[in-house]
Amino acid sequence: MVQLRQQLALELMREADVATVQEIEREIFATPWPRNAYYRELASRASAHYMVLRQEGLVETPSGYRAPDLDPTMIGYGGMWRMYDEAHVTTIGVRHDLQHRGYGRIVFAGLVQAAYDMGAKWVTLEVRTTNENAMRMYEGFSFKVIGRRKGYYTDNGEDAVVMWSDSIHSPRFRKAYEENLERIEADVRGLRRDLITKGE
Ligand SMILES: CC(C)(COP(=O)(O)OP(=O)(O)OC[C@H]1O[C@@H](n2cnc3c(N)ncnc32)[C@H](O)[C@@H]1OP(=O)(O)O)[C@@H](O)C(=O)NCCC(=O)NCCS
Repeated sequence: MVQLRQQLALELMREADVATVQEIEREIFATPWPRNAYYRELASRASAHYMVLRQEGLVETPSGYRAPDLDPTMIGYGGMWRMYDEAHVTTIGVRHDLQHRGYGRIVFAGLVQAAYDMGAKWVTLEVRTTNENAMRMYEGFSFKVIGRRKGYYTDNGEDAVVMWSDSIHSPRFRKAYEENLERIEADVRGLRRDLITKGE
């Protein structure tokens, strides 16, 4: 039997996507972002880069996604801010029922690709000390823990671990990025497989 490759698309987040992103956030985060925070980010296209991962073609509608303003094809999303040479990952999430199937890796690879395209030199992010799954994923992209922010998360006072990429142009980082790209089996429109980097 011929096995069809899954068809996915990484696209820029639009205002019409915010309702679905919030639905996913309600499933996976204790404190979802307010809607206006997304609208603000989407209005700052020069420094902010937000994207969504969708399944292309027919998909089964998950039970919570039947409202007309929700997009059942959305799998996950992620966002990033650029400040000078640094790209700061602000959020990333995958629908609860679809986690640990490789989609987070695709969204994160899309953010790293955007960091290259924006001309950033480093990528940084904060993650809850208890969020081992996310930390494993970032370590898989060769991120390292460089510090801790005490009581960073105001909902429960939890500390944040600060992770840092080192130069995204370094051979070590590029190798890890390419290894992650190789592990992606689906066809992902919007994700390049060849690494063309600026600022060498
Ligand atoms: C973190 C998150 C985005 C990862 O997405 P995902 O689709 O579940 O992750 P993937 O399947 O692509 O896995 C990538 C790597 O992450 C780690 N990982 C993800 N889920 C894991 C799990 N349940 N158990 C162990 N490791 C896990 C692994 O290192 C994995 O690599 P592997 O396949 O070699 O084991 C997703 O789990 C999520 O939305 N979590 C809730 C929101 C969140 O915590 N966001 C991050 C805030 S900083």
